[in-house]
Amino acid sequence: MTAKRVFSGIQPSGDIHIGNYMGALRNWVAMQDEYAPVYCVVDLHALTLPQDPAELAGARVRTAKILLAAGIDPGRSLIYYQSQVPQHAELSWIMGTFASMGHLGRMTQYKEKEDKGGQNLGLFSYPVLMAADILVHRVHAVPVGNDQTQHLEFTRDLVERFNSRYGDFFPVPEQITPPVGARVMSLKDPTSKMSKSDPDSGSRIIVTDDADTILAKVRRAVTDSGNRVAYDVERKPGISNLLDILSAFTGRSVHQLAEEYSAAGYGRFKQAVAEAVIAGLAPVRQAYLDLDDADVEWIMAEGAAVARSGAEETMSEVRRLIGLG
Ligand code: TYM
Repeated sequence: MTAKRVFSGIQPSGDIHIGNYMGALRNWVAMQDEYAPVYCVVDLHALTLPQDPAELAGARVRTAKILLAAGIDPGRSLIYYQSQVPQHAELSWIMGTFASMGHLGRMTQYKEKEDKGGQNLGLFSYPVLMAADILVHRVHAVPVGNDQTQHLEFTRDLVERFNSRYGDFFPVPEQITPPVGARVMSLKDPTSKMSKSDPDSGSRIIVTDDADTILAKVRRAVTDSGNRVAYDVERKPGISNLLDILSAFTGRSVHQLAEEYSAAGYGRFKQAVAEAVIAGLAPVRQAYLDLDDADVEWIMAEGAAVARSGAEETMSEVRRLIGLG
């Protein structure tokens, strides 16, 4: 039996933070043992917000480097840049003809970015391209953080519409989210998620931050009134977020940790969180520093060649099914 296939993507916009790491990347690495994964740096998606060309080129290679440094193994996973596989954009056009405008307009991510002045057709149809990413490889599952749930529901809706017209062609992809870290919150506002685009860089820990930076960011993280460490997302969102982070980096449950640190005071607790994050990220940071841009670009080009041939198999069947073969 061939391994189940999974697909996931990450935008090369800004630096990869521990939310991306805990919600997605770490899970992607672990899945290599069981699945045949396809991981994509979705550079076309990044264009939905204005990008400086030199900055985008730099962010793209940095993102690929982080994936490799975190443990994505090109011998077991297919890894490439979305724009180097044009079948994504072709399928996106076709799937767009099945998309409901009402459904697209209700997407939280669209509404948030539109509010920030980012109105354009690409932003509106962003979930269609995301669906095409997944469908062009006909995968069964998609490992993501829980901010992608609406997009996955939208993808399944498109699959049902396509399949009901043309027969069961695309698998209905399921979402896989990690038990801890599926939604890491901002260190500065624990009621909103940690995000690459937050103007306050103290709101997130970057995977390549050095030890002093991590310690400083954790120390400055917003906490709650009182001084007792307890897991209570409603009343203690800041401390609960730090407990989630500590749990993800130690493998221990939040309840065990809350008990252990209940009387430690916020200072000692934060010190322990920072130390766990520093230790957990140290090997990734070192591997990142050791990687050479030219080697990374070579791996990405090789991956794109393999991805193009797999995606073309899907597209030739799709073209035939819809009458354009
Ligand atoms: P992106 O680039 O925003 O995020 C990449 C991955 O990181 C997860 N994530 C988080 N997880 C936990 N806590 C957080 N604070 C946090 N922030 C981000 C995201 O859930 C995601 O898994 N639309 C996607 C990219 C994409 C894609 C795809 C994903 C394009 N095509 C096809 C899956 C399948 C995005 O913007 O991810």
